[in-house]
Amino acid sequence: MDKQIGEALKKITNGVYIIGSKYGGKVNAMTAVWVTRLAFKPQLLGVAIGKSRFSHHMIERSGLFSVSVLGPDQIALSRHFGFKSGRDTDKFADISYLTKVTGAPILKTALAYFDCKVVSAAEAGDHTFFIGEVLEGAICHEGVPAIYKKEEIFGNS
Ligand SMILES: Cc1cc2nc3c(=O)[nH]c(=O)nc-3n(C[C@H](O)[C@H](O)[C@H](O)COP(=O)(O)O)c2cc1C
Repeated sequence: MDKQIGEALKKITNGVYIIGSKYGGKVNAMTAVWVTRLAFKPQLLGVAIGKSRFSHHMIERSGLFSVSVLGPDQIALSRHFGFKSGRDTDKFADISYLTKVTGAPILKTALAYFDCKVVSAAEAGDHTFFIGEVLEGAICHEGVPAIYKKEEIFGNS
């Protein structure tokens, strides 16, 4: 049954995003595909962040996060930010970023960004679903957003 549910869940489509955080003088970011719009008024975005992620620690304490939207030619960035932890690596050592109102890092090459203030956090099993009010957001580069395809990022294994 679990396998069936897992296979069925693969039919849900997601984009590919980089979630930026800033806390205690440090910036970090991680890849996330579990990101969604939630309301028009105010404009709300939800992100599901695993409790073991360093980003979880940072977002929980700062109450802030940014979302950078990736395009289909930016899969390498999703690996860079998704395969190692900011706990022991500076993922921004060779990657330039900008900051807006929250100070959380936003990728300069993103298609679009959102800067969010956490207004609510719901327990979601091994994740926390952080709901953020969008304080600022804009398109940085024209283009279509990436659609998450597991094989493209993780290979066929
Ligand atoms: C394609 C892809 C999608 C991911 N989606 C999520 C996600 O939606 N939520 C999550 O908590 N982790 C997700 N991850 C895992 C985190 O990006 C990964 O654990 C990262 O190393 C955490 O970094 P941090 O410890 O610096 O926060 C994803 C990873 C990849 C490669």
